[in-house]
Amino acid sequence: MFDRLPGFRDFYPEECAVRNHLFRNWRSSARRFGFAEYDAPALESLDLFRAKSGDEIVEQLFSFTDRGGREVALRPEMTPSLARLAGARAHSLRKPVKWFSIGEQYRYERQQRGRLRSFYQFNADILGEPGPEAEIELIALLIHLFTAFGLTEDDIVVRLSDRDLWFFYLQGMGLDDDGCGGVLSVIDKMGRESEEKTLEKLKPYFGARASHFLAKISMLREVSSLEEMEEFLLAHSMEGEARVAVEKRVAEWRTLVSGLNAMGLGGFIEVNLSIVRGLAYYTGFVFEAFDRDGKFRALAGGGRYDHLIEKLSGPQMAAAGLGVGDATLWELLTARKLLPRYVDAADIFVVTGGEAEREAAFRDIGRLREAGFRVEYSLKPVAFGKQFKLAASSGARLALIYGSEELANETVKARNLADRTEQEVPAARVIDFVREAF
Ligand code: HAM
Repeated sequence: MFDRLPGFRDFYPEECAVRNHLFRNWRSSARRFGFAEYDAPALESLDLFRAKSGDEIVEQLFSFTDRGGREVALRPEMTPSLARLAGARAHSLRKPVKWFSIGEQYRYERQQRGRLRSFYQFNADILGEPGPEAEIELIALLIHLFTAFGLTEDDIVVRLSDRDLWFFYLQGMGLDDDGCGGVLSVIDKMGRESEEKTLEKLKPYFGARASHFLAKISMLREVSSLEEMEEFLLAHSMEGEARVAVEKRVAEWRTLVSGLNAMGLGGFIEVNLSIVRGLAYYTGFVFEAFDRDGKFRALAGGGRYDHLIEKLSGPQMAAAGLGVGDATLWELLTARKLLPRYVDAADIFVVTGGEAEREAAFRDIGRLREAGFRVEYSLKPVAFGKQFKLAASSGARLALIYGSEELANETVKARNLADRTEQEVPAARVIDFVREAF
């Protein structure tokens, strides 16, 4: 016996039904928001991910050398592939580009609850729109992706944050771009690591003043409103150009938040600057969605990445997007009893006698299936009694019986499996009869 690999899942029909339900809902939400579906190969060249997604993801790659000597990797996320596709056609695409995809992603993660090595992700991205209007549309879609399943603002919170503001602030502290990036990846892990460990990691950037800066960083992480954000930033060593930049940024924040409020989505969002995102390519607004009780891991994450397409040798192209995983959403919908009960039933079960009766039945089975009905029958011609048992357990509403008597009378017996009433139908009228009955 072979076991499946750790972190991978099998999908028996019941699980496939749930997965289809998620995908159907995701697709219909994306279409309502005017996003077009795209796809790309699951296997890409290793270089596409190297240094583009950040060290953490590169360490988690399923990668190998193929028979042609190419270094390849299974995609850990969709964004680099999307950037590759968009970069190749950047000049002919009508902007803003609004695209979505649903696909399997692979990350060699440490085994833990809610973290798999293969999972599905819904991705939606807007390219060519540099202003916060793109984020309004994306976050509105993100919320719709949850409400479409029956989740409400009591279940979900979307935390909004801003790597630009962190950059302004850290640059004001004298750090260069690499330093800012380094400190942000320390901040990304702050909620999960001890204060001593964080302090150790900050020392290379701030030296003896690390604990002073840790206190400041902790204050900024606690900011939970636009007013607090503005107050903190303006109070902290912001002068001249830096001050103008911060004020402009705060105005963009206002556009974002008031847009979402106007859409009636204010109850879902929260300013929370502790979110900085683990992926290295993010440049501006970033956000993550969680269940409000904090029981599960992140449901979704996203943000702006204005330089990725350029870095992958396309032209400069503004970009922002989001990814929603299937696993946490599945857990949350199960906990809230929002997954529909899956009923896998036939419409019609056909019961047949001997060879001649089977022949007549097969002709009608083909016609009924052509007409769109789900028709089942016992593959092996077993005894009548056994076929009736199969009919009852199939969940079908109707049994059509092709016995020798019926064949001689040129009729078919139709049995309503719910109330057990029966009627004779002329053989030539079977398809019309079924159409009328359903
Ligand atoms: P991410 O935060 O790495 O972002 O992943 C987005 C979501 O995918 C997570 O919130 C989580 O639900 C799910 N996910 C990630 N890793 C795993 C895992 N190992 N097991 C189960 N679920 C997981 C991105 O991937 C970005 N590329 C999203 C994006 C699109 N940004 C811009 N456009």
